[in-house]
Amino acid sequence: MAFPFLKKDMAKTEKSLPENLPQHIAFIMDGNGRWAKKRNMPRKFGHREGAKTFHDITRYCRSIGIKNASFYVFSTENWRRPQEEIDAIMNLLWEYLNDCDEYLEQEVRMIFIGDKSRLPERIRNRMIELEEDSKKYDKMNLILAINYGGRDEIAYAARQLAQKAVNGEIDPLSITEEMIGEHLYTKEIPDVDLMIRPSGELRLSNFLIWQCAYAEYYFTDVLWPDFARSELDKALWDYAGRGRRFGGV
Ligand code: IPE
Ligand code: IPE
Ligand code: MG
Repeated sequence: MAFPFLKKDMAKTEKSLPENLPQHIAFIMDGNGRWAKKRNMPRKFGHREGAKTFHDITRYCRSIGIKNASFYVFSTENWRRPQEEIDAIMNLLWEYLNDCDEYLEQEVRMIFIGDKSRLPERIRNRMIELEEDSKKYDKMNLILAINYGGRDEIAYAARQLAQKAVNGEIDPLSITEEMIGEHLYTKEIPDVDLMIRPSGELRLSNFLIWQCAYAEYYFTDVLWPDFARSELDKALWDYAGRGRRFGGV
């Protein structure tokens, strides 16, 4: 079936990119539903088009040397959506997870963050398999947040630390920020440098709230399905021009 999808901007855009690229970019892939609505199509078509953008942007991140790229795929709050939409997203995810050879060939490590226990079994198993198969790669960490919530993640860290305290392995009074960080889903990933949210919404929606404590934020009205490589270039130039002080002078 042929749908009137927009052509993706597959070509590499800027001839040059800034020197100080972020170590970790996080993307909130928002605006799929509105993209479809504008075309009088059901929301699931927006998700399909968004998945294409996702694929293209991951490839671009890998090619320009971004070391960590995180994508918000499905939040702990997204279960509030109609079942039909949830099913469409899960089906797309299943399709996508079975088409990851290119990442492995490109030596990309895949890491899934979020609570896997509530996901359909086949999806959960495939996620674990991909994590295992790509563990040895270090060209880029591709972090996919699925059934992820920042507060849920911090509660998960708190439970682990509390259990260790009860077992006598740690002293509760000596819990540090670093220890909390080591018990998050992102324990092997550096903090977010650049958080990008398209679609005109100006909020984090519970994404990487701990890890974004000192992130730079970049917002654009472009809807995620239309987020081309040139949009990422703009964000990278904007980021490069900012002065990060981390509380210093
Ligand atoms: C983001 O697009 C994708 C997911 C949350 C899975 P939306 O579906 O939120 O699109 P809008 O915000 O309704 O346009
Ligand atoms: C955030 O988008 C979640 C994902 C992109 C997966 P939402 O569309 O769910 O966020 P809100 O509801 O507008 O805050
Ligand atoms: Mg949305």
